[in-house]
Amino acid sequence: MLFEDLRPKITNLKYTHDGAVEEIYNLVREKGFSSILELGTAFGKTTAAIAAALQENGGGFVETVDLHVVEERFHKNSCKTVINDLGLAEFTIINHENHSYNWYLKKQIETQLKAGKIEPKYDFVFLDGAHNFTIDGLAFHLCDRLLKPGGVILFDDLKYNIFDLNEAQGTSNEFTLDSFDPRARVVRTPMGEDELKACHVGLIYELMVKTHPGYGDFKYSNNQNWGYATKLGS
Ligand SMILES: C[S@@+](CC[C@H](N)C(=O)[O-])C[C@H]1O[C@@H](n2cnc3c(N)ncnc32)[C@H](O)[C@@H]1O
Repeated sequence: MLFEDLRPKITNLKYTHDGAVEEIYNLVREKGFSSILELGTAFGKTTAAIAAALQENGGGFVETVDLHVVEERFHKNSCKTVINDLGLAEFTIINHENHSYNWYLKKQIETQLKAGKIEPKYDFVFLDGAHNFTIDGLAFHLCDRLLKPGGVILFDDLKYNIFDLNEAQGTSNEFTLDSFDPRARVVRTPMGEDELKACHVGLIYELMVKTHPGYGDFKYSNNQNWGYATKLGS
C-alpha cells in the first residue's frame, strides 16, 4: 500500500505524527527491510505504516509488542482492527506482555540461541515504548543481540522527559515513596528530581549507543527527536 493511500486511514490515530510515520515508511521501503521489531504498539499507527511498507517491499513481518493491561484499558484491540481493516494482517504479528517487552526479548533470545550463539533475527528495530532509562537501557542491549549486522535501530523521543509531561498533563511530580512489592522483593522507589527531568532515551542514545564500538552511522531526524544507529559488520 502506498503511503498516500495509507495516510488518511491512520491520520487520526495517536501517537506519532504523520510526517514521522512517513519517515519510517520510507525507511522500510528504501532499505528493503523485511524482519522488523517494534517496541511500543499503542493504537497501531506506526505498525500500520511499517506493515504497509513491507507489503510494497513484497513481503516480511513486523512483530510489535505492548502491555496486556494497557491494551485492555486503553487501546482496546485498536491495532488488530486497524491492521485487519487495512488488509495487512499477513505482515503483522501483534504481541502483548504482562510486565515489559524486555521479557519478550528474553524469549526471542532463547529461541534464537543455537549451538551457544544467538542468531540475529531483525534488520530494523523501532523503540517507542517506556522511554525509561532502566527499561530501555536493557531493551537496547537485548535488541543488540537480536539485530543483524547492518541492521538499524531507531530511538524515539530523545528529548522526552517525565517531569515536563507531568507538568503538561497536570499530573503530580511528587516524590512520595511507593509500596513494597512482595512478589518482586523490592521497595518500589520514586525517581529523584534529576531523573524525572532527564531525557531518558536521549541519555541511552548518547551514553550507551553512540559510544558502543559495534555501532555507527549515527543520525538524527530533522527535529532531533529521533536517533538512528546502524549495527556495524556486514
Ligand atoms: C508512544 S506509544 C507507541 C506509539 C506507536 N509506536 C505509534 O506511534 O503508533 C508507547 C507504547 O509503549 C507501551 N509500553 C511502555 N512501556 C512498555 C514496556 N515496558 N513493555 C511493553 N510496552 C510498553 C505503552 O503501553 C504504549 O502503548
